[in-house]
Amino acid sequence: MNQTLFRMTMAFAASVGLSITGAAQANSNPSTSAGDTEKAAFIDNLISEMNLEEKFGQLTQAPGAWNDTGPAVPETGSDDIRDGKIGSFLSVYGAEVTHEMQRIAVEESRLGIPLLFAHDVIHGFRTIFPVPLAESASWDPEAAEKSSRVAAIEATAHGVHWTYAPMVDVTREPRWGRVVEGAGEDPYLGSVMAAARVRGFQGDDMTATDTILACAKHFAAYGGAEGGRDYNTVDISERTLREVYLPPFKAAAAAGVATFMAAFNDINGVPSHANPFLYREVLRGEWDWDGLVVSDYTGIWELMDHGVAATREDAGVMALEAGVDVDMLSKIYEELPAAVRSGRLDETVVDAAVRRVLELKYDLGLFDDPYRYSDVEREKANTLTPEFRQTAREVAHESMVLLKNDRKTLPLSKDLQSLAIIGPLADDPHSCLGNWAAAGRPEDAITVLEGIREAMPETEIHYAQGCHVSDHDTSGFEQAVEAARAADAVVLVLGEHRDMSAEAKSRSSLNLPGVQRELAEAVLGTGKPIVVVLMNGRPLSIPWLDENIPAILEAWFLGVETGPAVADVLFGDVNPSGKLPITFPRNVGQVPIYYNHRNTGRPADPDDMYTSKYIDAPWTPLYPFGYGLSYTEFSYSGLQLSSEVIGPDDSLEVQVELTNAGERPGTEVVQLYIQDLVGSTARPVRELRRFERVPLEPGESKVLTFTLQPEDLACLDRNLQPTVEPGDFKVYVGGSSVATLSAPFTVQSANNP
Ligand code: BGC
Repeated sequence: MNQTLFRMTMAFAASVGLSITGAAQANSNPSTSAGDTEKAAFIDNLISEMNLEEKFGQLTQAPGAWNDTGPAVPETGSDDIRDGKIGSFLSVYGAEVTHEMQRIAVEESRLGIPLLFAHDVIHGFRTIFPVPLAESASWDPEAAEKSSRVAAIEATAHGVHWTYAPMVDVTREPRWGRVVEGAGEDPYLGSVMAAARVRGFQGDDMTATDTILACAKHFAAYGGAEGGRDYNTVDISERTLREVYLPPFKAAAAAGVATFMAAFNDINGVPSHANPFLYREVLRGEWDWDGLVVSDYTGIWELMDHGVAATREDAGVMALEAGVDVDMLSKIYEELPAAVRSGRLDETVVDAAVRRVLELKYDLGLFDDPYRYSDVEREKANTLTPEFRQTAREVAHESMVLLKNDRKTLPLSKDLQSLAIIGPLADDPHSCLGNWAAAGRPEDAITVLEGIREAMPETEIHYAQGCHVSDHDTSGFEQAVEAARAADAVVLVLGEHRDMSAEAKSRSSLNLPGVQRELAEAVLGTGKPIVVVLMNGRPLSIPWLDENIPAILEAWFLGVETGPAVADVLFGDVNPSGKLPITFPRNVGQVPIYYNHRNTGRPADPDDMYTSKYIDAPWTPLYPFGYGLSYTEFSYSGLQLSSEVIGPDDSLEVQVELTNAGERPGTEVVQLYIQDLVGSTARPVRELRRFERVPLEPGESKVLTFTLQPEDLACLDRNLQPTVEPGDFKVYVGGSSVATLSAPFTVQSANNP
């Protein structure tokens, strides 16, 4: 169906009161039956009919309106929709609301172009899953794909076309509140998770009504914020940009992510929203990616605060020319017709951006049926179903990391007569959800207290809040101590409130906030066995807990199934298998601290003062990257390489035997790191290159084989060209980034067979 026919169909349907869905379905579907040529012709034709105001309208994203019951049709915005001044909306969802807004767009605007509805569906829509950092602790891309799939099914049933996820920012900054939204510190783990999430959201058919446009954000290096302060300057070398921050974006692009989002920060003085190097050179040039770039919120307008644009028009022209296609909320692009008319802005730049917006709408099938995502029946059938909850519980199981377990304190016995559950987060459903909880509702979340009550109906439960998360009131301590005294064991739920992580939630301390440590001391004084369950969105520095509490379970923010999932692990129905996706420092002064650092000319040596370390704290982290315990024991043996000498174009096979040497079934995340011992530049002491989750029964062994390809051994040479440099390497295999089992090999130069 060409555009004119499309418009005539809309007008006719409206005039006779027909359902547009029915009318449009009677015609051929351009997105499924036609090839690229038909699509290009359809869009060319549409663009040729658009005036400048309508073009910039397509590049303008407006905020949704809200009333007491949720998203609503914006009153003033309706006129703008009619006038073709809006191409997409942020934070609008709901089958009815989106249907009505879409109706105004397709029936009452001159060209009848359908709208796109975008929302931040970050870790679930209504069925809230573990926060992304937690989910990354599963080291299970299938889990990430499944949770994104469920999120896509639910969100699209509520009218949403476009999610602003996955957030793929690598960060070495636990102070940065947005560490919770990403996959942690490692470019490789981050890349695997990025691709999995894109696959989950987008599926393999964008025309299916349960797939959603994904968005890799924030391009680029937002996680490098100086001092961990949100929105702050990033000053890094191009090498660090390319080696550390860009790989997950590249992986998302390769996985076919439909959109990218710009970042609030500048890199070396150039704000991302005005950086053609990022979009035109790297993204579109080197990576050959052809999707749409959206600004981050008012990022275009902020170019004036950055100090690179003097006027709104400067900012708009700069951003569009840099490659930012859609203006999320600055309302600046809508003013740019003047810049085209004055000859300052080339209309072909505008048309290219408009084309990308229309292509997305076309690919989703919206020109064929603009209401295909706004179906009340589908919405009802796809909200918080028992199957979705079960998936959320399973992902939560894998997301927990057992940090300490002295004397097999965990799992707790199911025969406990009584149990004290203490702490400010034990019964806080809001925090279970974590931040960025889309349409999640606290009443859907099962807290740790509720989960344990349900799992252990015969056990006498003594609950005391003890204190708040972050004030200094100790008046609840007495009740907490009494609860502990009355019980056989204590589960202490400590950490951060969910509003202490995410955007604009940077902290200058990584300690347990408020008087929670004092609460733990008071409870410890009772002499009862204590287990700490941590809920938090970032690495915390908890050396006191590590020294004094026998068992610590990192539970992050696990979503609607927090309580049941935590109970499953505490009482041994599930053996924890998560591994840290980011280093836990001993204190904030160690930050940045990450496993893939360089050796330096003076690597830390306890016997030599003039080496790289501190005089008042160890140089090692509290818990390293990749670390996590299990209720069983795993042992590694028989590390073998297919060859000790290879050429630069050869692959290398690495074999290792893993044994479950303990008494319970368990899953180990086997990790393989390489070290390039001599290169043209100083290389990291280790770099993660492969991992695999391996479930084993007690006593069972398995031989694992990993194949490293030349690109796994390559680094950027002094000219930033990917090269396999001849020389000595090492492979390390084990259960964390400090694994000691290793084997050497050498890469010979090509002309030295
Ligand atoms: C955040 C983005 C988010 C956008 C829309 C911004 O403040 O940085 O990550 O997608 O808001 O809600």
